[in-house]
Amino acid sequence: MGAHGTKRIGILTAGGDSPGLNAAIRGFGKAVIGHYGWELIGFRDGLRGLVENRFINLDSSALSGILTIGGTILSTSRDKIHKMLVDGEVRDMRPVAQEVYERNELDALVLLGGGGTAKNALRLAETGMNIITLPKTIDNDIAHTETTFGYATATEIATEAIDRLHSTAHSHHRIILVELMGHRAGWLALSAGIAGGADVILIPELPYSVESIVETIRERIARGSAFSVVAVAEGARDQGDAADYEAARLLVDTASGPEAERAARAHLAHVADQQREHTFKLARELEAATGLESRVTILGYVQRGGTPCAADRLLASRLGTAAADLVARGEYGERGLMVAARGDGTEPVPLEEVAGKVKLVPADHAWVQTARQLGTGLGD
Ligand code: F6P
Repeated sequence: MGAHGTKRIGILTAGGDSPGLNAAIRGFGKAVIGHYGWELIGFRDGLRGLVENRFINLDSSALSGILTIGGTILSTSRDKIHKMLVDGEVRDMRPVAQEVYERNELDALVLLGGGGTAKNALRLAETGMNIITLPKTIDNDIAHTETTFGYATATEIATEAIDRLHSTAHSHHRIILVELMGHRAGWLALSAGIAGGADVILIPELPYSVESIVETIRERIARGSAFSVVAVAEGARDQGDAADYEAARLLVDTASGPEAERAARAHLAHVADQQREHTFKLARELEAATGLESRVTILGYVQRGGTPCAADRLLASRLGTAAADLVARGEYGERGLMVAARGDGTEPVPLEEVAGKVKLVPADHAWVQTARQLGTGLGD
């Protein structure tokens, strides 16, 4: 508890940046400062700034004008709290984080992040800190929340890209493969692929066969459409590569002891590295099989940059204000809570139910059925 009975809260952003982070900082901050009359400090550079006790005071002027700004005013990093590289050495920084939390007389720490952040947040909560997370990521892959902020904006950006690629694919009678982010999940490629009318959508959850894609493209040629747009999730793989990757992942999951785990991780990294150029490989295969020139566009970080769309601003604002209500009620669960999106409202979910899980697209998801009924090739 801060001085004079008021609360003092810390906030930070961790992991990859995402549209809506500033809207969430603002939503939480306005409720904390204006509505509840407490103090808010923002740690710089994610967990790195926390352990180095680098922060700024977030007063109302610091929160003004940030709703529409992309990125995060606090900056971010991809550190792991229990394995942080400090002065050339990998260290467990949980005790340092705890000491900083106590030194600043914090009542709670709010972390805005994705799957990796949920794991770090749980580790911090286990030291006794009061922890709340808000789900952000363009990948929409966090368990137990209907959606995450950043995802709607990324879908808008990717959809516009597909629209623009459509006209050039059509004009040149080409196959254009557009690679979209999403990490191991296909949400972004699926939603933007449907919204942008992609002819083929490839997602990690449905490993593809090149023959199946070729068949879709040939059918289109036979119908007079000598061009195709293929939306490829960055994690999508053909059936052979997907099996190799899963086998390597299984080795990591089942490794017994640190030495075996290190070796399994190195093998997984090697397999992932070999598959890195998969969209280019697919383009060459499609060109050879169909006779249509094939080109690749990798959308990359453009999907994470810039101003959040209205849906993400609304989502980030309601998650942020709901987090302030949890602090007001002193609700942190036993080992931290995530504020999940539920319908028009929100729901606190224990962090231990979220950390370490990935929300993938179920093979029978309604959008998969929609794509099939639209005649979109899914390559499976
Ligand atoms: O999680 C968000 C995301 O953009 C993923 O879609 C992508 O795989 C990853 O981050 C890229 O990470 P980095 O910012 O470290 O290159």
